[in-house]
Amino acid sequence: MSCIAAQSLAKSYSGIAAVDGIDLTVQTGQIFGFLGPNGAGKSTTIKMLTTLVMADAGNLSILGIDAAKSPLEIRKRIGVVLQQPSYEPTLTVKRSLEKYGMMWDVPAQLRQERVRRLLADFDLTEIQNKRNEDLSIGQRRRVQVAREFMHDMDLLFLDEPTVGLDPAVRKRLLDYLKDRAGAGLTIFYTTHVLSEAEYICDKIAIINRGKIIAVDSPEELKRRFGQEKTIKINIAERDERIRDLLEDITDCRVEFDSGTEVTIRSEQSSAVLSRIFGILKENDIEVEELSAVPTSLEDIFLKVVSDAPDS
Ligand SMILES: Nc1ncnc2c1ncn2[C@@H]1O[C@H](COP(=O)(O)OP(=O)(O)O)[C@@H](O)[C@H]1O
Ligand SMILES: [Mg+2]
Repeated sequence: MSCIAAQSLAKSYSGIAAVDGIDLTVQTGQIFGFLGPNGAGKSTTIKMLTTLVMADAGNLSILGIDAAKSPLEIRKRIGVVLQQPSYEPTLTVKRSLEKYGMMWDVPAQLRQERVRRLLADFDLTEIQNKRNEDLSIGQRRRVQVAREFMHDMDLLFLDEPTVGLDPAVRKRLLDYLKDRAGAGLTIFYTTHVLSEAEYICDKIAIINRGKIIAVDSPEELKRRFGQEKTIKINIAERDERIRDLLEDITDCRVEFDSGTEVTIRSEQSSAVLSRIFGILKENDIEVEELSAVPTSLEDIFLKVVSDAPDS
């Protein structure tokens, strides 16, 4: 049984599709990364998956439970950290955790143990008696995430939990999530930072403009794109013919700027390069400068996103 199974899930606001018919399968114990730029539809998806927002169309089963029929059954078994901050300003950090445990009917002794554990795990012990309103954005975010671990759950949704965290704290949180997933928790994790998804996720779906444009393991994404090199060629003089001459070369993507620079991305960079040199030589086009570097995964992500239809 899949932990999350969604088919053709869609949601529009005032006739504009925020999520435009997506399919998702998440297996138990996975950390599933949902990666996309701002406005892509990540939060809307999380709200549908957590039954906070009703989908306009599609089928959704969470933990084997039909979301349209029994949303409350689902809510009992999941944890949700939404993107927007939610805290009671005058409560202290410690009290926030305690109160959350009470809300979920966690027995008193277990509650105390968990509070102590989470304060330590999330590096909040020193500020446990501070009020939420006196915390920094990053500290509040940590309280918001820590609090969710007060109760037992089978599936945790996190909507951009690391925004506002400095790199060391961010890494700590990611490692903590990895540990919990190792112990059996399934995690659905949204981010707009590819390196984060790469670090913790078993599988990554890339969403853009409400549509999923790639789903793969980080390793497979790397294998698919990791061989790629970005070649930049600067020709000595602007030449109108170059567009036509280079446009039909296979196994690469060619971009022209308005001046003398040509950018080529290819997995067969040496073969492509020798063909390009051949063509340039035949046509007496002089190369002034050349560089070739591996395409970074961030660039690949941006490229995949900007290549999607309608952009
Ligand atoms: N409650 C809402 N009312 C109107 N439009 C919304 C609402 N929520 C989201 N949208 C729109 O839907 C699109 C997707 O938003 P969202 O799911 O928040 O994206 P992301 O979380 O990836 O940044 C955006 O264009 C956003 O403006
Ligand atoms: Mg969002």
